[in-house]
Amino acid sequence: MVDKDAPTTLNMRWEMSTRTHNMKIDEEIKHSGIEHKVPISLDDTLSFVCNKINETKAKQILEIGTAIGYSAITMAENTTCAHIDTLEIDEDRFIIAEKNVLEHKLNKKISLYLVDAMDYLKTTNKTYDFIYLDGPKGQYINYLPYLVKILKRGGVLVADNLYFHGMVTGKIPTSKGCRAMIKGLKNYIATITNHPALTTQILDIGDGLGYSIKK
Ligand SMILES: C[S@@+](CC[C@H](N)C(=O)[O-])C[C@H]1O[C@@H](n2cnc3c(N)ncnc32)[C@H](O)[C@@H]1O
Repeated sequence: MVDKDAPTTLNMRWEMSTRTHNMKIDEEIKHSGIEHKVPISLDDTLSFVCNKINETKAKQILEIGTAIGYSAITMAENTTCAHIDTLEIDEDRFIIAEKNVLEHKLNKKISLYLVDAMDYLKTTNKTYDFIYLDGPKGQYINYLPYLVKILKRGGVLVADNLYFHGMVTGKIPTSKGCRAMIKGLKNYIATITNHPALTTQILDIGDGLGYSIKK
């Protein structure tokens, strides 16, 4: 389903633009995430995301999965976006994210929500130019109808971890506890690839990215 070895024109264009992109990264937050085993986005994933936000001049951003605020802060500091809403269900991580955002004086640019993403998606009246989906992998497929609805026409949806460390591509065997999640991710890939309202590419960047544009 996913051909990891096939470079696309888009891939090549991205690699070229990334080489010139010096992303500002908070190493302290990054290392604190790694040290405390908080899953955070890979550098090349964030570089792609920031480049796309700037390229498409996206202003209103939604992130699902704040963790400790590393990716939201990176997006805020490396793009021309106007505002980021970011959603987190875990209270301990949310509190750390709030502190990190305040310390970077980004509390006007980043709004943090302690919420189950599904509750937010079902009730929000907002629309977005760019959505970075980095929350619970097994839920991507369930979020999709709501994401398509709140994404503006021409807006971009980037979903992280579509390879899930090689379990989705079959490179490594799916562990028993991950079966439902991997099934959900495969379903998400198949659905975005054939979705009538989206143009999608699966990119061999980081842990596999779904890059969709709303028609
Ligand atoms: C991969 S981490 C996000 C990393 C972050 N984007 C970064 O790069 O710094 C995924 C986060 O999603 C959160 N999460 C899991 N289920 C959620 C849900 N139902 N609603 C909102 N957040 C959720 C987890 O607690 C976790 O912190």
